[in-house]
Amino acid sequence: MLVRFNFYWICFAFSISVLFILAVTRYADNTNHRSYPERPGNFNKIMTIEGEEQWNIPHVGLPNIEDILEETRVKIALELSNYNFTNSAAKNLQELLLESGGQPLRSLIISTWRSGSTFLGDILNAMPGNFYHFEPFMNVKAFQIRGPPEAEKAIISVKALFKCNFDSFLHRYLEQYLRNKVTPWYQFKHNDRLWKHVKYNRDLFFDPMFFSSFCKLFPFQSMKLVRFRLRVVRDVLDDHELNVKVVLLVRDPRAVMQSRQGKGVEFCKNTSPDCSQPELLCADMISDYIAAIKLQRQYPNRLMVLRMEDLSLDPKSTTLRLFKFLGLSMTPEVEQFLDSHTTLQAGGAYETFRVSRDVPFKWKNILHYDYVEEIQIACKQAMELWGYRSAHNATHMASKEFYPLETLNHSTILGSK
Ligand SMILES: *[C@@H]1O[C@H](CO)[C@@H](O)[C@H](O)[C@H]1NC(C)=O
Ligand SMILES: *[C@@H]1O[C@H](CO)[C@@H](O)[C@H](O)[C@H]1NC(C)=O
Ligand SMILES: *[C@@H]1O[C@H](CO)[C@@H](O)[C@H](O)[C@H]1NC(C)=O
Repeated sequence: MLVRFNFYWICFAFSISVLFILAVTRYADNTNHRSYPERPGNFNKIMTIEGEEQWNIPHVGLPNIEDILEETRVKIALELSNYNFTNSAAKNLQELLLESGGQPLRSLIISTWRSGSTFLGDILNAMPGNFYHFEPFMNVKAFQIRGPPEAEKAIISVKALFKCNFDSFLHRYLEQYLRNKVTPWYQFKHNDRLWKHVKYNRDLFFDPMFFSSFCKLFPFQSMKLVRFRLRVVRDVLDDHELNVKVVLLVRDPRAVMQSRQGKGVEFCKNTSPDCSQPELLCADMISDYIAAIKLQRQYPNRLMVLRMEDLSLDPKSTTLRLFKFLGLSMTPEVEQFLDSHTTLQAGGAYETFRVSRDVPFKWKNILHYDYVEEIQIACKQAMELWGYRSAHNATHMASKEFYPLETLNHSTILGSK
């Protein structure tokens, strides 16, 4: 109760601050202003500019939480009524539910910006009964967490979320929002099963008890992190109760750098060395490679490595291989997702309707050879380790003979397939 009580206070304080900021903003922008900007119209306009349209939703009080939970419980059971649990080593749905004292199947995707993790995350989220922890460290913007002191806090947070504990996450979230004015909604939108309930209800949005009870209804829990290097994951793997399976997703650094120059990734350019410098990207790729070999030895069958190119070129069989590793069975929903997202081409920087056979090599037609050469020099070792071939010159790069991929021998990286 105390926690909830505190939250109402924070919400109250927050609303006051927002109103204050609005008042100041309007004062600065509009010298003709006469009245305090409390009309929904004003609110709406300013909020839309900042992409914060939800603040315009009034407090409507808490809905009947028990009803939402029961409805979701029934829906998940229905959606999974024909599900084949054999791969998961659980006999039935109950054994995978935290609310029934079971343990869900947890998967953690480790990647970096613009490596296809949104697509991979959406494949997992196409599973009925999946709860998606999307980028919980989005608020740290374009930094990589490579070790202490950030890593310790981050690990505590990852573990708590995987256990459906949202207390400190929502607290920090709100604090950071007040400090940095980071768009707080984006990461929740990807968890559509939760988002549809909290989207229009501010009270529910900051209710960690609702988040927790809701989360505990889901047999599959997935998380994706693009700011968290693989060596830091050891402490998450150490937690035997969680029994997390980790997927390391890598991509050709030339494709990554090309994609980071696109629209919608402004945070990546110049201001963040971790994001804008191929040297740092490739140092991380080497460190991830070394960590992959170590972790595989220490935790057999808890880590899988995947190249974005292999996923794009052969989404179905790569997904099957991935699901087998994660202990998941293929469902019609996932098949349908793959069908609809690997054939069409549309959308902006973060749309996933664009993963088709020519995407992996698009950079060849866009990047100047000079820049490609710069990346290849900075990334020589990383590219060799992960099976990416260098182009020798501009003519070679543009020619049909140049195929950037080597077949990656998973046995050499991970000891077993
Ligand atoms: C369930 O999956 C297992 C392992 O893939 C398979 O051997 C079995 O035949 C499946 N059962 C049904 C009913 O489809
Ligand atoms: C470009 O590289 C190709 C393949 O290595 C080589 O055959 C060719 O001579 C090179 N062209 C130039 C202009 O250096
Ligand atoms: C992969 O590597 C292993 C170990 O080095 C080797 O035995 C195997 O033949 C390789 N497979 C292929 C397809 O190259």
